[in-house]
Amino acid sequence: MPIRSVLAGCGGYLPDRIVSNDELSRTVETSDAWIQERTGIRQRHFAAPHETSAFMGTAAARTALADAGATAADVDAIILATSTPDQAFPATALRVQAALGVTRGFGFDLSAACAGFIYALSIADGMIRNGQATGVLVIGSEVYSRILNWKDRGTCVLFGDGAGAVFLRAAKVSDPDTRGILSTHIHAQGTLGDILYVDGAVGQPDKPGHLVMNGREVFRHAVTRLAEAVEEALAANGLTHADVDWLVPHQANSRIINAMGKKLHLPPERVVITVDRHANTSAASVPLALAEARTDGRIRNGDLVLLEALGGGLTWGSALVRL
Ligand code: UT7
Repeated sequence: MPIRSVLAGCGGYLPDRIVSNDELSRTVETSDAWIQERTGIRQRHFAAPHETSAFMGTAAARTALADAGATAADVDAIILATSTPDQAFPATALRVQAALGVTRGFGFDLSAACAGFIYALSIADGMIRNGQATGVLVIGSEVYSRILNWKDRGTCVLFGDGAGAVFLRAAKVSDPDTRGILSTHIHAQGTLGDILYVDGAVGQPDKPGHLVMNGREVFRHAVTRLAEAVEEALAANGLTHADVDWLVPHQANSRIINAMGKKLHLPPERVVITVDRHANTSAASVPLALAEARTDGRIRNGDLVLLEALGGGLTWGSALVRL
């Protein structure tokens, strides 16, 4: 009997330390006015030394499990999207597995930059549908504050730290419940790898690695690719703009988010925005925004939610989910 993935619970974690634009402008040649006007960002959270991707991912995962009424015993897979893993190996997902007390199944990290959570959701959905897993934690967890170049004002003001997680549960399609992931679509274009990247890694000699971005180029591709992704998701499900209740987009820039909302003819109050308070948390941004809108009661069971993201690679994609 066919199986689908139900998004049973969500959770998020943000470090305590909040850094305002004004605070940044004391050490970087920038201003609150510029950052707000160009990006919509007012503040971001920065991790303390103990707040690693595994630490924050574990906290978000615990909340997602509790939200789903599940425990560690229900988890048989953990897929963690990050560009800022705790170590080259073991996978950050397995640090989370150990911290949660999960003793079976498997886990791995996934590298697709800001689109990482959508990629991870897509892989998890496929594994649930083909019977490889029945309870999957999908996590996005990032500490970009550790890879920012503080001499590059064009990038260092844009990012923040945090983690978001969802717990997916396998459900038989004959169940009366119609909740679940309807579709995911993921894409990549490696030829655009030089417009957003990290210029180092543990595998490279003497290069800790800092984020480098051609903002205008990424902006241009984001608007085009994400608009295509939205149309692709709707067409694949025989749906129209009018069927979508909520857009939960990647939180890179409020100008990109507003353009996507207009494209879907969604009123602004149906578009979840956290970029003003979280800045861009890369793979964590979509699950953090989803968790916020679920927790405060905006998104309810039965709502049709469109998730989308684009990041370094280039990577991009969408997921259409009935909550
Ligand atoms: O998460 C992955 C996906 N990422 C994205 O989607 C990001 C996409 N890109 C963007 O969001 C925007 O391109 C940025 C927010 C990064 C930049 O906005 P922009 O409107 O494209 O600005 P710009 O890079 O064209 O820079 C405009 C001006 C420049 O000065 P000149 O050359 O016009 O004199 C920059 O030097 O703004 C200057 N500038 C700044 N000024 C104050 C750049 N950064 C800053 C800053 N503070 N932090």
